[in-house]
Amino acid sequence: MRPLRSLLVAFAAFMSATASLAQARPPVLPGAHDALVTAGPQAARIGELWNLTVFICTAVFCAVLIGFVFALWRGGRSGGEAPPDLSSIGKHERGPYLSVLWSVGVSIVLLLVLVVASVLTDRALARASLDNAVKIDVTGHQWWWELNYRGDSSSDNFNAVNELHVPVGRPVVLRLKADDVIHSLWVPSLAGKKDLIPGRTATMSFRADHPGRYRGQCAEFCGYQHAFMAFEVIAEPQAQYDAWAATQRQPASDPPDATAQRGRDVFLGSTCIMCHAIEGTVAGGRKGPDLSHVGGRSTIAAGTLPNRPAELARWIANPHDFKPGVNMPATALSSDDMNALVAYLGSLK
Ligand code: CUA
Repeated sequence: MRPLRSLLVAFAAFMSATASLAQARPPVLPGAHDALVTAGPQAARIGELWNLTVFICTAVFCAVLIGFVFALWRGGRSGGEAPPDLSSIGKHERGPYLSVLWSVGVSIVLLLVLVVASVLTDRALARASLDNAVKIDVTGHQWWWELNYRGDSSSDNFNAVNELHVPVGRPVVLRLKADDVIHSLWVPSLAGKKDLIPGRTATMSFRADHPGRYRGQCAEFCGYQHAFMAFEVIAEPQAQYDAWAATQRQPASDPPDATAQRGRDVFLGSTCIMCHAIEGTVAGGRKGPDLSHVGGRSTIAAGTLPNRPAELARWIANPHDFKPGVNMPATALSSDDMNALVAYLGSLK
């Protein structure tokens, strides 16, 4: 009976692990990255499909285990010196024949249920209302996200980087592109995954029904720093979103003091301008993220570091310490120049 006991122990461990996982579901927290915490209709539909799949698979798993245990318990076995009872070999047994038939039939039906549920989910996602949607072009780069908000007229357009602000309760339509290699956009609390493929344009849509910060992550291996290609969707009330968007449409603010003024001179006199743009200055590089409002972002390097002066200085001095392989080169500056540069960038809200 030892195999039977091991099986029962393994089964009990599996069930208790499943139960504790179910209890561990956190509430919607800032930066939650959890497909089981849904904050919009698209994610909720996908969540329902997941629940159905887990329920069916768990039921099948339990049924198979019960059948197995039952077979072990009922099956003939040899005891001590006695030879095993092989008398049933070659005999046509109706019981096992019927149970195999039933198992195959039930498996086919359950698989069909999953196929139909998956098709229905797909159709429900495609039919979701997109009236009055916010339209954003998302371009994946190694390893950051470029966001181009498209308004009704070209004067309404503006850019953002890595932090996708959206108004609560309004549909959002993303047009997905890639600049270099294939990436994949995934914000589990809001929608499923979608690939960004160079030379192609894909679309995806979602709606955030609850204010909050939802963590997203590139979900397709795209090179050395794929894991550090995170982003955030920040869902906020319409008025707050409008205020944020109005700020983004403005060119960069002027340096507020002499230190920041020196920082701007350092920036404009360095190789930074080859890759970065700051609207309202001569810096117009497009290879790296637009820095016109970098001070308003909560992280730098696509969710890699908090956007604080000390981290920003270390990042500029040697980005490869944090993201080996990143396209940005190290920049050697005197500590005064670095402090001034960091003060200037921090002032660009
Ligand atoms: Cu971009 Cu992985």
